[in-house]
Amino acid sequence: MIYDYIIIGAGIAGLNAARLIPKSKRVLILCKMSTWNSNTFWAQGGIASAVDKSDIPTHIKDTLEAGANYNDLDAVKLLSNESISAIKEIIEAGMIFDKNIDGDLAYTKEAAHSRNRILHAQGDATGREIHIFLLEHCPHEVVTQAVVCDLLIQDNICYGVQYFTNEFEQKVAFAHNTIIASGGVGSLYKYHTNSTANAGEIHGIIAQKGIALKDMEMTQFHPTVLKGTTFARKPLLSEALRGEGAFVVDENGNRFLFDYHPSGELAPRDIVSRAIFDYNKKTGLGIFLSFKNFEKKAFKKRFPNIYENIKDLGYELPFENVPISPAFHYCMGGIDVSLDGLVKGFKNLYAIGEVACNGVHGANRLASNSLLEGLVFSKIAVNKSLEKNFKIDNKSYKQEIKEYIRNKDIDKDIKDDLRKTMWECAGIVRTKEDLQNALLKIEHYLSLDIGRLLNLRLLTAKTILKASIKREKSLGAHFIKEE
Ligand code: SIN
Repeated sequence: MIYDYIIIGAGIAGLNAARLIPKSKRVLILCKMSTWNSNTFWAQGGIASAVDKSDIPTHIKDTLEAGANYNDLDAVKLLSNESISAIKEIIEAGMIFDKNIDGDLAYTKEAAHSRNRILHAQGDATGREIHIFLLEHCPHEVVTQAVVCDLLIQDNICYGVQYFTNEFEQKVAFAHNTIIASGGVGSLYKYHTNSTANAGEIHGIIAQKGIALKDMEMTQFHPTVLKGTTFARKPLLSEALRGEGAFVVDENGNRFLFDYHPSGELAPRDIVSRAIFDYNKKTGLGIFLSFKNFEKKAFKKRFPNIYENIKDLGYELPFENVPISPAFHYCMGGIDVSLDGLVKGFKNLYAIGEVACNGVHGANRLASNSLLEGLVFSKIAVNKSLEKNFKIDNKSYKQEIKEYIRNKDIDKDIKDDLRKTMWECAGIVRTKEDLQNALLKIEHYLSLDIGRLLNLRLLTAKTILKASIKREKSLGAHFIKEE
């Protein structure tokens, strides 16, 4: 049988695409782990949108400024122009965002936005609420624990996918259209804010097939995660906290961010992350987030989940300062796609959301534009695919279907070293020498007898390193220390 669609990934982009594909179509949604294990689920701050038509030019300007003007202008215009209707559409379908006391939508502020334009839900659980809404409105079944290990590609047509099931069997599924919505690469880094499912295997398949990945050196580090926990996924302290008055201090109580940028805490993310990294390195002082500006009851009401999570980890907000550091957060680069989501050179292979790169985020994503991107570009891609109505003939697929070994015993240690290496060598501040040494190491690991999934992760790491070496001058989130 041939599916009409295979969707790889069940975050905002994949699930919104699924929601918009008519029920009459046969759709297979492959989710790598459990449905909640996605970056969308963990997103706290909110979803950005132009507030009204008059705000579109300013939203565009803010997105470009944060992105170091490296963005694709048409992509940014499309994102902003479509934002109002995309939000209206999900609200009409039943999504509930927080309202102010007058009953109007409550917009908050985040760094590098020149006005309040971030919608939120259940205070600080925006991603979770959107994710639940999308799952509840998805007319197609989601298959969990389905790990894609190859794409069936021949003559620039995608015939479908090969994946490991829950039982570690390998399956092949054919589809007229394949939509990649598998998210980012956070698990390639030692410290990150991402779901553990985001390890960049699909990017690795793309690299192996010789399909273009773009801007892979553009990796974003969130400035404020809770420091000191043992797990790799660090608890996020949302940008909305700084947007509403939290500030960054050293252990002596000095606010130092204004020494780095006139907007201080509200400067673009890449600048704040680098400032924290640099200041800590220069002075050796610990860095903290202070909530002095908040009153307890109001804080608990506005940020209930952060309050509880941080309390469980031993801090009583808003009275105590909490230790912070930056951590890997988002990959601006990805599969090179055109504005309609089609992978360049293909007629029936789409990529949307964080895994894709249409240039909308430039060299540094503006806060809360990621959920919006998933929403807007999933709709465009679905419309395009319905209009094209492309059909494959699976009998034309003649390539060998390989038997892959999912994992091998040596993988675990290599995986750990890969994450450490990426954090140390392809992190907030990079040097050409570190990048080159890391690349040599990755190439060595690739020459060993390792499992398929690790092989794909390493291929993705290799594209990040190669792209970082190629870009010799700093730009946006890619900061290279010149020797
Ligand atoms: C946050 O709440 O700080 C994350 C929002 C984002 O990454 O855009």
